[in-house]
Amino acid sequence: MAKSSIVSIGAYVPPKILSNDDLSRMMETSDEWIRTRTGIHQRHVALPDETTASLSYQAASAALKGAQMAADELDWILLCTDTPEMWTPATACFVQDLLKAGRASAIDLTGGCAGFLQTLELGDALARQGKTVMVIGTELLSRSMDWTDRNTAVLFGDGAGAVIVQPKPEQGIRLTHSRTFSDGSQADILQKPYGGTRNPIPPEIVAQGGHHRIHMEGQKVFRQAVHRMSDAAKQVLADTATAAQDISWVVPHQANQRILDAVAGELRFPTSKVFSHVRNYANTGSASVILALADMLIQNLLEPGQRLVSVAFGDGFSWGAALWDLLTLPPVEFVGRDL
Ligand code: UT7
Repeated sequence: MAKSSIVSIGAYVPPKILSNDDLSRMMETSDEWIRTRTGIHQRHVALPDETTASLSYQAASAALKGAQMAADELDWILLCTDTPEMWTPATACFVQDLLKAGRASAIDLTGGCAGFLQTLELGDALARQGKTVMVIGTELLSRSMDWTDRNTAVLFGDGAGAVIVQPKPEQGIRLTHSRTFSDGSQADILQKPYGGTRNPIPPEIVAQGGHHRIHMEGQKVFRQAVHRMSDAAKQVLADTATAAQDISWVVPHQANQRILDAVAGELRFPTSKVFSHVRNYANTGSASVILALADMLIQNLLEPGQRLVSVAFGDGFSWGAALWDLLTLPPVEFVGRDL
């Protein structure tokens, strides 16, 4: 079956920036602590009138514009997020309406920080059947964050990314191979426990603002993230009989700089070839791999003929890696990007 490719990329981050110093005025933390433990200097956060659907719409519109494609050419909109517009209907349906993508079937997936790679694998399967698929990853965590919890509040930022996937094996970024995994037995290490059917939100928790609390055992997440992302990358290289030295860049989920450096070490890859812009955007969950890829293209780091490995890890736990071949440079637009 013909392989599919990413033929256009759109990205969006909100104009509002929250620096580490801003955070240190809101909670017991410091710029120095955040920089040294995470590499993060700032994050973009949504304006009051922005929502997950509006962020997604910005990124999706940019991708359509780049591809010079009308919204009604889309067959599918797959949207991955941990922070949906509302419980129901799917955020993807709001985006379908905003885009006026009259022919598209629209559905959400919840995959955490590995969600984009998982959703892209599904988008690839649809594209191989001849469909034109918009794959979106969006996170608006600032709206659902416990801003009193310094253990988690400093780590995340808001943003959205969108790619158009089509069965065009000679064009764009070819989705050569992908392996994604999940291990739900470790769900309790990183979760937002309140608000679902297991733990409806008790009024006293609402009163304390605790329903937004993300429970995270940071060091366990750290160890698993390094181990799982490295293993998945090795798996993808082994599956495709690809030598590590044939890979030009690793395009990782932007968890934090120490994790990225440790993954580089595990893979015996120079840290300079593991792309990072975590200092500017922090961890944007489902959006982060697309934002990274968009930024790399805009910085002219990529050229046809290069082979890329993307890796991601997040709640679930879910994780994965993908091998991409850069055939031609796809159009890219990154709205709100830091210069
Ligand atoms: O996509 C996956 C998303 N999650 C992640 O990527 C997180 C992975 N984990 C990590 O990156 C690290 O574990 C963290 C950055 C979250 C924390 O770094 P750490 O080196 O593991 O620190 P720690 O949790 O061991 O905490 C060390 C100290 C503690 O104080 P005490 O108990 O030693 O007095 C924390 O209370 O640092 C304290 N601390 C802070 N201090 C200032 C925790 N957060 C902060 C903060 N500012 N924001």
